[in-house]
Amino acid sequence: MAEQKYGTALVTGASSGLGRGLALRFAKRGTRVFAAARRRDQLQSLAEEAHAAGGTVEPVEMDVSRTDETIARIQRIDADCGGLDLVVANAGVGLDTNGRRFDWERAKKVLEVNVTGAAATLTAVLPKMVERKRGHLVGVSSLAAFKGLPKNAAYSGSKAFLYIFMESLRVDLQGTGVRVTCIHPGFVKSEMTAPNRHPMPFLMETEAGVERMARAITRGVSVYTFPWQTAALTRLVMALPDFIYLPLARRVR
Ligand SMILES: NC(=O)c1ccc[n+]([C@@H]2O[C@H](COP(=O)([O-])OP(=O)(O)OC[C@H]3O[C@@H](n4cnc5c(N)ncnc54)[C@H](OP(=O)(O)O)[C@@H]3O)[C@@H](O)[C@H]2O)c1
Repeated sequence: MAEQKYGTALVTGASSGLGRGLALRFAKRGTRVFAAARRRDQLQSLAEEAHAAGGTVEPVEMDVSRTDETIARIQRIDADCGGLDLVVANAGVGLDTNGRRFDWERAKKVLEVNVTGAAATLTAVLPKMVERKRGHLVGVSSLAAFKGLPKNAAYSGSKAFLYIFMESLRVDLQGTGVRVTCIHPGFVKSEMTAPNRHPMPFLMETEAGVERMARAITRGVSVYTFPWQTAALTRLVMALPDFIYLPLARRVR
């Protein structure tokens, strides 16, 4: 399948990890990238790195959990740049939430970024994209979307939301010219996975993860799971009956 080129793109969570890698990768290939996150210094150094490589990254200091501000800001960017071709809702937080000592504040942080933040990001200029009959929405979910993992009620639930949200949008947007891609990474090295003490099977280097995600986006894949080994393991776990899954999952953590 031919690789899609984008004139303009917005990537959230671009101050580190997968989002930073994606922003840089698209900028190096000629896309004008609006890189959004809360940490301005990291965004500035990304912009400098892109500039040195001949690309354009414009830092956008933004907290996606402030959904009204996020929507207004993305709409302004869209109007000023002549229309965003690609919007990647990548910003995410991975705080665990133990069901036995449930901490609502932690869960709320996860939901505000991964659910309402992502939904606001993805739909801010959707009516404009439909009007223009072009555009590409990308949500960065997780393989954790497919099974309720131990101590992950908020995170697994938030990523399952994104998967279904994107699927429903994909149904509605058929024939409009607006494409919808949902990406489900397994374990990839980043600030999010660095503190993990539990096993991370088939952990990938950041650059390798970014490259796979970028290719799935430019090829317009609807749902992309990677790496294949963890995706296969996930499918296997999904097929397990509760009498096997529940005690097994309890022992893993
Ligand atoms: N790494 C993995 O193994 C893995 C696996 C499956 C899915 N994912 C998903 O991939 C995405 C990227 O994660 P990563 O691994 O690259 O982790 P990361 O390095 O921790 O990046 C997370 C990004 O999200 C941004 N962010 C967090 N809260 C935000 C907020 N309120 N407003 C705006 N930006 C915010 C952070 O920037 P600031 O702190 O500067 O705001 C940062 O740029 C996430 O959605 C994650 O759930 C990752």
